[in-house]
Amino acid sequence: MNTLQVDLGDRSYPIYIEAGLLNQADLVRKHIRAQQVLVLTNETVAPLYLATLINHLGGYSVETVVLPDGEQYKTLDYLNRIFDQLLTKKFSRNATLIALGGGVIGDMGGFAAACYQRGIVFIQIPTTLLAQVDSSVGGKTGVNHPLGKNMIGAFYQPQSVIIDTDVLDTLPDRELSAGLAEVIKYGLIRDPDFFEWLEDNIDKLLARDKPALSFAIERSCRNKAEVVVADELEADVRATLNLGHTFGHAIETGSGYGHYLHGEAVAIGTCQAADLSKRLGWLTESEFARIIALFKKANLPVLPPESMDSDRFIELMAVDKKNLDGKVRLILLKKIGEATLPVSVEKELLEMTLKSYGRE
Ligand SMILES: NC(=O)c1ccc[n+]([C@@H]2O[C@H](COP(=O)([O-])OP(=O)(O)OC[C@H]3O[C@@H](n4cnc5c(N)ncnc54)[C@H](O)[C@@H]3O)[C@@H](O)[C@H]2O)c1
Ligand SMILES: [Zn+2]
Repeated sequence: MNTLQVDLGDRSYPIYIEAGLLNQADLVRKHIRAQQVLVLTNETVAPLYLATLINHLGGYSVETVVLPDGEQYKTLDYLNRIFDQLLTKKFSRNATLIALGGGVIGDMGGFAAACYQRGIVFIQIPTTLLAQVDSSVGGKTGVNHPLGKNMIGAFYQPQSVIIDTDVLDTLPDRELSAGLAEVIKYGLIRDPDFFEWLEDNIDKLLARDKPALSFAIERSCRNKAEVVVADELEADVRATLNLGHTFGHAIETGSGYGHYLHGEAVAIGTCQAADLSKRLGWLTESEFARIIALFKKANLPVLPPESMDSDRFIELMAVDKKNLDGKVRLILLKKIGEATLPVSVEKELLEMTLKSYGRE
């Protein structure tokens, strides 16, 4: 088994990566501290993997909360269902919450665990590629607000992250590609060798070649863990993980939650960020072309929705968490493998990208 350690002092935790881990009862039980266990999942994942997980939890008092499936349920209302269950079943401060699902379930489970009695044990079992390479690692948790994505949340690290690559077998192709957007991100912001590896191996990943997937997941988690260890609370370098996300969040909100997948919106947003980086003279034409080509090869969209004009983008981007003093701040690329910290961008320049890129 491949184990990475996220080194955060007394909040350090392991990430386990291997095919078939969901069948290793000991691994799941290892990080549970007391009797009461709540498993949070959704209506799609429950019929696939919930029974397997619960089978390993014989001897514990296990409750489940099965939420409807979708980003549109990542809200305070639905979060409350988890608290209702925890309180109705009289869960104590020693209880454990296990999130079994994609990023939506992981973000909500983590936030519920952070809030319930000011913090209970939390275990991540991510079941989408996106959750395995990104959202389950690093402790960002939360829910959406009608006025902005992920605007209500907390930093709360899990006790362990259990990544079973076999669960990706049931993941729809479109979701697999969405996860690849975040994988490509690591290559772009800090790992040029990995970017080149992705250029050579993207077809294998799309074909779900197991060794290729395991390599990409491990390399992605390693990159994420290093960034999180360097800057847990996002004072500086952690912000680079948001490459393409300010544009992407605007696309998600502007087109209605649920229209684009998160990874799809991030793919488009990253291409927009790359366009801006090229205009600043940082990315070369050829680097820019390689980036667009890799997203395309990963079956991801690269063009902004026609329904969103430049004004709408700017309006939505203005609520982003990275902004200070009313200026839009963005992560851009100096080159493939090197991101900037958030930079304030002149409105005129941003408008050039918003009006030109993908609009001709
Ligand atoms: N906390 C962070 O650091 C962080 C980072 C990136 C993204 N996110 C958040 O993650 C969310 C997106 O996560 P996501 O892409 O995993 O979406 P998701 O959780 O909605 O899952 C995608 C779809 O796949 C289904 N699914 C999950 N596992 C499956 C499996 N093994 N087989 C078949 N179907 C399966 C889900 O039911 C859902 O329909 C967004 O809310 C985003 O804001 C958080
Ligand atoms: Zn993301």
